[in-house]
Amino acid sequence: MIGNLNHVAIAVPDLEAAIATYRDALGATVGAPQDEPDHGVTVVFITLPNTKIELLYPLGENSPINGFLAKNPAGGIHHICYEVENIEAARDKMLASGARVLGDIKTGAHGKPVLFLHPKDFNGTLVELEQI
Ligand code: CO
Repeated sequence: MIGNLNHVAIAVPDLEAAIATYRDALGATVGAPQDEPDHGVTVVFITLPNTKIELLYPLGENSPINGFLAKNPAGGIHHICYEVENIEAARDKMLASGARVLGDIKTGAHGKPVLFLHPKDFNGTLVELEQI
């Protein structure tokens, strides 16, 4: 069922500094910041030859990233995203396997359906599934 690694998301306390690190020091292709008010984040995608890095920066007082950055002031890996062919089939398979699905299927930062799986069921890693 699981497909390619779509992206690794990193929460960052200083978006401009993180952009400069990837663009200038690492020489990566860095996209423009996109505000995602529905998700409480500003997102920057960095395109690598085989996957993407998603920089997450809090947008608004109630951003889900605020708590993460309070615990991880230097930033850190927030989630990893795997591709699936069918998000509903993936959700049903995860539920049948006993994994906890967090909330409903939503539209992710690429305009595709996504869902999140509880880190306690995946070795301490928040997992996003994205339908491709
Ligand atoms: Co993501």
